[in-house]
Amino acid sequence: MNEIEQIALDKIANNDHELYALIKQRYSPRIFDQKPVTEDDMKKLFEAARWAASCYNWQPWRFIYAFKGNEGYDKIMNTLSDFNQEWAKNAPVLMLTAYKEKTPEGEENFHALHDLGLSMGNMTVQAQYMGIAIHHMAGVDWKKAQEVFDVPKGYHISTAVAIGYYGGELENLSDELQEQEQAERERKPQKSFAFENEWKEKD
Ligand SMILES: Cc1cc2nc3c(=O)[nH]c(=O)nc-3n(C[C@H](O)[C@H](O)[C@H](O)COP(=O)(O)O)c2cc1C
Repeated sequence: MNEIEQIALDKIANNDHELYALIKQRYSPRIFDQKPVTEDDMKKLFEAARWAASCYNWQPWRFIYAFKGNEGYDKIMNTLSDFNQEWAKNAPVLMLTAYKEKTPEGEENFHALHDLGLSMGNMTVQAQYMGIAIHHMAGVDWKKAQEVFDVPKGYHISTAVAIGYYGGELENLSDELQEQEQAERERKPQKSFAFENEWKEKD
């Protein structure tokens, strides 16, 4: 079975308009194949992040990653919420994402989080091309992560990320998570967020 075949076909986006295949196939699994993610794979993922657009080309994104079995992996795991720990242990690689808060002139870089998001978007599409799934997590104690990794002042941990090849066994999840893993994916309609000519959302 090739890598693409391991992407669960029933998870593919039920899109309203034609979509690029890598975007259509992407989803956030909580199980992963046993196939190891290699250092070379990680280099390709970071290369995709590296070539993202950023405000003034400041490239404010930063990443800490670790392979399962290494001390860094356990350190990242210990910063995750209990909910995320329950399934993220299935991932062969864990990562923290961070951004540099200030511009070279020392002003607050209001767009740094936007740029980090763009770099993660690039990485996610590259990963999809490689048959690798990226599951982002807000459920991380970022203050603890900053302490554990001795992150210097001026940098802000944003999310944790679980990385692994698509695949794996549903039995590696609790009954509740198995249900979520198989649930139909949903999205808001375009008209709820894409406004032509005027702001159309009332609070
Ligand atoms: C910034 C961000 C934070 C997220 N945090 C978590 C998390 O803490 N735990 C989790 O299980 N999923 C998390 N997710 C995954 C989302 O729940 C998921 O992307 C969303 O439900 C849409 O599903 P899909 O990615 O499969 O299309 C996060 C996603 C993003 C982009």
